Amino acid sequence: MSDLEQSLGRRFARLTTNLVVARPALWRLFRPLTRMQFDRLAPQWTSMRSTEAFAALELALEALPAEPSKVLDLGTGTGLAAFAVARRFPGASVVGSDIAEEMLGQAREATPPELADRVRFEAADAAQLPFPPGSFDLVVLANMIPFFDELARVLTARGTLLVCFSEGAGTPIWVPPERLRAELERRGFMFFAGFAAGDATCLLARRSVGGAARPAEC
Ligand SMILES: C[S@@+](CC[C@H](N)C(=O)[O-])C[C@H]1O[C@@H](n2cnc3c(N)ncnc32)[C@H](O)[C@@H]1O
Repeated sequence: MSDLEQSLGRRFARLTTNLVVARPALWRLFRPLTRMQFDRLAPQWTSMRSTEAFAALELALEALPAEPSKVLDLGTGTGLAAFAVARRFPGASVVGSDIAEEMLGQAREATPPELADRVRFEAADAAQLPFPPGSFDLVVLANMIPFFDELARVLTARGTLLVCFSEGAGTPIWVPPERLRAELERRGFMFFAGFAAGDATCLLARRSVGGAARPAEC
């Protein structure tokens, strides 16, 4: 992929993020192109990630009040964040979801054998998730457009949301922290903590203090 193509792709991702966060209904217009973009990027995606890409996510995971048991990694790409969560929490089962089948194929192929019984990947659109309310006690978004209503719906009341950006404000898919907080506060989130490591940032958000409640079966 040429530098020009990469730069156009990053601009398209930022434009999509800004418009869809402002008006989620626009997602249906952007979905096909976004999917095509990431299907195309899938074979080289992992090699494009820096070693520090998930450093802020790791700090936020360390700060969780309790070990999660059911975890959703939304916009999982090649599964790197899903693997990081599963490695850190040996009792957790992790679902990685994405709209790009090529990304999911790469993630399945890259799944380390020791995680294979606890990490699975399935196609799902974050705008309309195929999971019942309260299915997860941890939802992770790494470099992914947030769909706030669905995030609030699939998390348990005492669950934790992590919204992380590998390059901070320079990440193509990026939402300013104050916007994240405002949207989440409208949906009952009250407790926030920010983490930073190098350029990477991560916002932790919860609706209540205390340990993670057991999520519903899904
Ligand atoms: C920038 S990549 C991040 C991948 C991975 N989380 C990482 O940080 O390496 C964004 C991913 O989100 C996926 N995606 C974008 N919109 C989505 C949606 N509405 N539902 C599910 N996945 C989505 C894309 O297909 C892509 O794989």
